[in-house]
Amino acid sequence: MPKVTIDELDLAGRRVFIRADLNAPLEAGQVADDTRLRAVVPTIQHALKAGAAVVLASHLGRPQGKPAPELSLKPVAERLEALLGQPVALAPDCVGPETLARARALAPGEVLLLENLRFHPGEEANDDAFARELAALADCYVDDAFAAAHRAHASIAAITRHLQPAAAGLLMRRELTALARILEAPARPLVAVLGGAKVSDKLALVEHLLERVDALLIGGGMAFTFLRALGHDVGRSLVEPDRVETARRALEAARRRGVSLVLPVDALVADGPGGAAGRAVGVREIPADQMGLDIGPRTVERFAAALATARTIVWNGPMGVFEKPAFAGGTIALARAVAAAPAFSVIGGGDTIAAVAQAGVIDRIGYISTAGGAFLEFLEGRTLPGVAALTEAP
Ligand code: 3PG
Repeated sequence: MPKVTIDELDLAGRRVFIRADLNAPLEAGQVADDTRLRAVVPTIQHALKAGAAVVLASHLGRPQGKPAPELSLKPVAERLEALLGQPVALAPDCVGPETLARARALAPGEVLLLENLRFHPGEEANDDAFARELAALADCYVDDAFAAAHRAHASIAAITRHLQPAAAGLLMRRELTALARILEAPARPLVAVLGGAKVSDKLALVEHLLERVDALLIGGGMAFTFLRALGHDVGRSLVEPDRVETARRALEAARRRGVSLVLPVDALVADGPGGAAGRAVGVREIPADQMGLDIGPRTVERFAAALATARTIVWNGPMGVFEKPAFAGGTIALARAVAAAPAFSVIGGGDTIAAVAQAGVIDRIGYISTAGGAFLEFLEGRTLPGVAALTEAP
């Protein structure tokens, strides 16, 4: 359903509440990766150019409803100032009389960043009284936090009862448009690649994707539960025994639907992820005392061949223990194969994005989502509260 977007709002002389996802990793009190901050800059600039004052809000980390100084948005305010090239004042709280006074005193062209929304329990509780306090800070509402759209929190859901219309920001619109290109009438063949350690996190996604894709390539630790379901001994590789039956059913569903579900044919094995480089063996020959920690070269070739025929690709999750350089090669090779494919590609997830960056192919990916959990839930076909709360376009 098309949603009202920021460019349909009359912003001149108004205060706009922009819910962003500025939940960026911090290191030594500094923003370690400002991708999410950069992604929301066009929306802020659009509002400022249109003559609005901006009240910007976000969560950071999981402070459990209590103030936690180490999760202050101060470093975020500082980095945003540099990115916007103008002052970004940080309010001492996200609600309360002082914050209200500071919001009311804003002149057009000014930005006030609220302190971490999750310092109050009302945010995660989707509390209506808390949402009303947030709504009182502005005249209109824009949600640009696609990465938090899977959370029914006060600044995302309840606030839209008090500030209407609930308009999508430019980033929210870009994310929804890119993801719709996968789930709604994609150019075919549509090939999905899934990785990551745990199969239990991805089974709902596998089931939903099997109804839509032409091929599903599975790597990473999660592949071993599927290999076990096929009857292979996989040594000490990661297997979730209570998911083997579900994996078997997914393999059966793929066969019935004519979806090609492609699993690794070889793996890099070693004693454990802490050791030296692994050696490549076929998935039927994994020694009993070793574990698979990355896909092997024959699997890379197989996956690359499937990707070369794709016209749409969606990828989430590393192919091995990506954080260890000895077992990052499969994921990086896959990044190159995705980039080389003549397809519109969409990727999401921290390790996946890092792999594309390390492979030097970031410019050759069709769309890189800023979201982790929300990206996966969207692809599972779930209704995201942050999307449902947006006002439908007339
Ligand atoms: C994310 O990083 O995925 C979002 O900011 C949501 O964070 P959360 O998982 O703590 O709700």
